Amino acid sequence: VTLSDGEVHLRNASGAEVDRLQPLWLLLHHHHQELLPHEAPYVDDDTSWAARRSLYVELLAKPETVLIVAVVGDDVAIGYGLAHVMEVGETWVADTWKTALRIGEIESLGVVPEWRGRGIGSRLLNALMSRLADIGVEDLVLGVVPGNRSITLYERFGFRTTWTYMSRFTHRSVES
Ligand SMILES: CC(C)(COP(=O)(O)OP(=O)(O)OC[C@H]1O[C@@H](n2cnc3c(N)ncnc32)[C@H](O)[C@@H]1OP(=O)(O)O)[C@@H](O)C(=O)NCCC(=O)NCCS
Repeated sequence: VTLSDGEVHLRNASGAEVDRLQPLWLLLHHHHQELLPHEAPYVDDDTSWAARRSLYVELLAKPETVLIVAVVGDDVAIGYGLAHVMEVGETWVADTWKTALRIGEIESLGVVPEWRGRGIGSRLLNALMSRLADIGVEDLVLGVVPGNRSITLYERFGFRTTWTYMSRFTHRSVES
């Protein structure tokens, strides 16, 4: 069955639904590995989700965190976006840029492959940004893996590259 884009709905979700994000997060984990295959080894899916789940649980316990899921049919989740709010002093922004006292972070944005390129990611990002704007949070940060096509999507929404992390990983054979 091919569902038209009009049948994709966005809705808010709470921490009670965190486990529904597992397959969607793992797509992002796999996507990161495809983008940087030479940085292997990567943690396995269980390790990845355990770490990501505890981050989401922590973020979703904060009152201003926003989780939006894109669903089709009988509430099947095909994408999600998660954003949260930080005091600027908790971030790498405070010592460099003049901004508002509160900074929003787009923590995650993902759409399953079959549904990409149809505007759902843009709708999710737009929804996250407007929810944050509603509470006065308009200065935003996010992190992406280099080479990710989503960079052009974020640029369309006004994001610019301002800080780049570099890594030098050594103990690659140590069991985690
Ligand atoms: C990035 C992502 C969330 C965008 O969702 P989407 O529904 O495909 O986005 P839209 O249809 O609204 O916008 C399409 C734009 O997204 C970007 N994009 C990134 N990956 C894409 C993909 N595989 N297919 C299509 N567009 C993609 C492009 O900028 C594209 O614009 P273009 O067609 O002019 O190049 C989604 O493609 C995805 O989950 N990708 C893999 C995970 C990822 O990169 N997440 C963000 C990193 S934090």
